[in-house]
Amino acid sequence: MSPLPFGAGIARLRAIMTKLNDTSSVLSLLASRKSASAKAMTEPGPSSGQLLDILNIAVRVPDHGKLAPWRFILWEGEARAEFGEAMKTRWKALHPEHGESTLDFVRGLFLRAPVVLAVVSTASEHPKIPVWEQQLSAGAVCMNILLAATAMGIGCQWNTDWMAYDGEIGTAMGLTAQEKVAGFIYFGTPTAPLEDRPRPDPADLLTRWAAS
Ligand SMILES: Cc1cc2nc3c(=O)[nH]c(=O)nc-3n(C[C@H](O)[C@H](O)[C@H](O)COP(=O)(O)O)c2cc1C
Repeated sequence: MSPLPFGAGIARLRAIMTKLNDTSSVLSLLASRKSASAKAMTEPGPSSGQLLDILNIAVRVPDHGKLAPWRFILWEGEARAEFGEAMKTRWKALHPEHGESTLDFVRGLFLRAPVVLAVVSTASEHPKIPVWEQQLSAGAVCMNILLAATAMGIGCQWNTDWMAYDGEIGTAMGLTAQEKVAGFIYFGTPTAPLEDRPRPDPADLLTRWAAS
C-alpha cells in the first residue's frame, strides 16, 4: 500500500459523518459492538481508503493539551511474516524448551489477520499533562478504531499479548524506550459469527456519592 495521504481523507470522512447523523444507528452500533477474534479472520482486510478513514477517526479523540501522544505502525502483506520471524526468534530465546509447533504458532501471530495496526503510546513527562492522561488518550484511540472499523463492517480485535510488553520486540518495532504498545488491532473478515460475551451490569458498578 502506498503511504497514507493524511488529510486527503476528509471528503470520505464527511460522507461517513453524514451517514452517522442518523443517531439511532450510532446508538445501535454502540449498544451492540463486539469484537471479532484474531483467531478467526480472513481476507479481505480494510482497503487503504478504509484504513485512512479509520485513522482519521482514530485521531479524533480527547487529548488533553493537544499533544497527539500516540502513533501507528502498520503490518500487511509480507511484513507480517517478516515480523513473525522476529517474534519467533524472540520467543525461542525466551522459551528454548518450546518445540517447532509453538514456534510456528508464534511466527504466524500476525498472519492470522490481513492487516495489523499497532497503536503506540508516545506519552512522556509534561509540565502540565500527566503521563496517565496521555496513555488514556491512546486507549481512546484504540476504541475509536474499533468503532470505526465495526461501523464499516470490518472485523477487528484489540489485543496486546506478550509481544506488547517485550523490550526486544519493541526494538524490532522501532519503539523508543519510553513508548508503549497500547494495542495491536487485528482487522479482517470474520470466518465465524461474532460471539458476544456476558456484559457487566452497570448498576453493580455505580455508586451515588453522598456526603457522610
Ligand atoms: C488493552 C487490551 C488488551 C487486550 N489484549 C487481548 C489479548 O491479548 N488477547 C485477547 O484474546 N483479548 C485481548 N483483549 C480483549 C479483546 O480486545 C476483547 O475485549 C475481547 O475479544 C472481547 O471482545 P468485546 O470487544 O466484544 O468485549 C484485550 C483488551 C484490551 C482492552
